[in-house]
Amino acid sequence: MSCGASTDHPVSRERTQWGNGRMRPHRYQTVRADAGHPIILASGPGLRRVEETLQMSFYRESVCPCLTHLAMRAGSLRPYREAVTRQASGRVLEIGVGSGANLGFYRNSLECVIGIDPSAGMLRRAAAMDTHIPVMLLQSAGEALPLESGSFDCVVSTWTLCSVSDPRLVLKEISRVLKPGGHFLYVEHGRSPDDNVSRWQDRLNPAWNRFAGGCHINRPISKIVAASNLRRISDSNAYASGPRLFAYFYQGDVVR
Ligand SMILES: C[S@@+](CC[C@H](N)C(=O)[O-])C[C@H]1O[C@@H](n2cnc3c(N)ncnc32)[C@H](O)[C@@H]1O
Repeated sequence: MSCGASTDHPVSRERTQWGNGRMRPHRYQTVRADAGHPIILASGPGLRRVEETLQMSFYRESVCPCLTHLAMRAGSLRPYREAVTRQASGRVLEIGVGSGANLGFYRNSLECVIGIDPSAGMLRRAAAMDTHIPVMLLQSAGEALPLESGSFDCVVSTWTLCSVSDPRLVLKEISRVLKPGGHFLYVEHGRSPDDNVSRWQDRLNPAWNRFAGGCHINRPISKIVAASNLRRISDSNAYASGPRLFAYFYQGDVVR
């Protein structure tokens, strides 16, 4: 069964063990047992802390997931999604899987995708997707992954490092769960290299952050990744189409 989990899925079970002791969620749930690859939704040990940190509210849990879902389905993002996901292979972890917009793009040949996200509202949408690959969804945050060290071939992040509370801690966790030689593949939006744009990003960031569920428009993604212990393989940063405040994209491949 997908990612080493048993096919016998009770709706709730305390302290079960997935794979070779690689992941210990508190509870898990089969969302669509009728599908070829049932998607499993689980809540992990770090969740209570995440909920406290993020101060989950109706706006954050219901309105934001709906708006984010609509925004992230934009056709203009598709080429970026394809470029990142087609490089992924083996056992893949997706950080901030959101409503599952990447799930349809992964190659058939990969072993499985474990998607984590702190938002139950986003995960519910992802769980409703049709998938051609084994997928497990885990409610957890990138800052405290309830996953075993050195257990993933690839970690993928698409437009998520803008939203996490502590990107440096998330990169530390990504590095921890990657196997030696494993890749972190990402496409993110962030700080523009142009002073006149970045000044406005700094001005508008506090208001945007509150409106957009914790999204930061001014994070210098390349610098943050460079400060981690991951080694750069490729890195291409450029404006995409759309308003410059939101459209400076960082695309990269770094290795543990
Ligand atoms: C802009 S959305 C991108 C979703 C998805 N990656 C995509 O490409 O459509 C940002 C996502 O990051 C998630 N997120 C926020 N804080 C997070 C954290 N601390 N760890 C992991 N994901 C987080 C949000 O819930 C949301 O689903």
